[in-house]
Amino acid sequence: MAPQAGSLVGHTDTMTGRFNKSFTQQEPIPEAAIEAAVAVLRSGQLHRYSDASDSAGPTALLEQRFAQYLDLPFALACASGGYALSIALHAAGVEPGDQVLCNGFTLAPVAGALHSVAAAPVWVETTPGLTIDLDHLAHCIRTSEARFLLLSCMRGHMPDMERLLQICDEQDICLVEDCAHTLGAAWDGRRSGTFGSVACFSTQSYKHINSGEGGLLATSDPDIMAKAILYSGSYMLYDRHSAAPEPAAFEPYIYTTPNYSGRMDHLRAAVLLPQLEQLDANIERWNRRYRIIEAILASSSAVALEPRSTREFYVGSSIQFRLPTWPAEAIACFRDRCSLRGVVLKWFGEERPRGYTSRYDHWQFFAPESETTHPSEAVLLPQTTEILSTLLDMRIPLTFSEADCERVATIIAEEIHLATSATEQPHGR
Ligand SMILES: Cc1ncc(COP(=O)(O)O)c(C=O)c1O
Repeated sequence: MAPQAGSLVGHTDTMTGRFNKSFTQQEPIPEAAIEAAVAVLRSGQLHRYSDASDSAGPTALLEQRFAQYLDLPFALACASGGYALSIALHAAGVEPGDQVLCNGFTLAPVAGALHSVAAAPVWVETTPGLTIDLDHLAHCIRTSEARFLLLSCMRGHMPDMERLLQICDEQDICLVEDCAHTLGAAWDGRRSGTFGSVACFSTQSYKHINSGEGGLLATSDPDIMAKAILYSGSYMLYDRHSAAPEPAAFEPYIYTTPNYSGRMDHLRAAVLLPQLEQLDANIERWNRRYRIIEAILASSSAVALEPRSTREFYVGSSIQFRLPTWPAEAIACFRDRCSLRGVVLKWFGEERPRGYTSRYDHWQFFAPESETTHPSEAVLLPQTTEILSTLLDMRIPLTFSEADCERVATIIAEEIHLATSATEQPHGR
């Protein structure tokens, strides 16, 4: 039976009590990265083009290593993931007014990147597994004029990439990948970020490598990379980039590509380099934690947790689950109860945008043309709205031990049980 909203007090006595660690506490930056950062600070040369004698330098080196990690020829370090998306869309050829397909389930900076290039989004439905709905994608391609897809693998959920590529290839759709949550993930052994024309990653603190803010863009297309480097603000110093095409590739774009100034600096690159080396080991640590939480939540009959495809290698840095039969008030109350016990859940069903959980229907800053062209798709995604209305989301920081993860999941399971049994004896405690 679906629970009702209940009282927030007097319910912890028989249970496992309160969890006291922070869900936003990241691990310290590795010592090697701190030393490298201090060396950059001592040098006084933080700007990526400041040291003419050293063409590599931490920023160009990070680009080289990142390109190697993805097994792609070109990479560019930027000021943020959202900024990388914006110049990736420009470099891929999106013009003002162009329709761009994009998952209805994504985060605000993705909508921001679309808005920054004056694109008209065509929002695509979401599956219960939180991936882009490929049937709806095919429908949207047929019924719109969009020639670009900005695929956001929101919270690390990858769709069937083989089928997605087939759809894009058949319809001549240019694929731009938002891999903010899939750095290190793969489909059929192929890394996220290597499927499309260009891919963007974030190194903001809650992502898989942490420089506070930062972004990376990767591609195997020399024209896209030449334009992206010029957009990022290279002051024509593109020969200082080592994961970049030959200078001749820049020639056609030198006079036509504005400088949108959004470089990464040596300090952040120095902080990221050692973290990139630790990434795969950290993914194993995340996934052990994820599986502990997943197993406990899956044992509750109220919880809908879609099984992940065996073709997907995911990074369990967060977990999502749904309470599909629960009304909004009960979910809000449950979220608040968990919060009182120190377990921070985000809920995507909130009426107003709150924290990191805004939704496609909150992003009302796009030109009305995008609504009138395709009213049903642009204005309302019933399936996505339904799924997000009962979707809860939780970070899994590596500062949590495996025992911590067990406790957190147990608290969630207890609160679900309590809310469900309170339905039989409403508020009788
Ligand atoms: C799905 C997704 N895409 C893109 C971004 C943008 O990254 P950044 O914060 O580095 O601009 C974020 C940031 O959280 C994100 O969650």
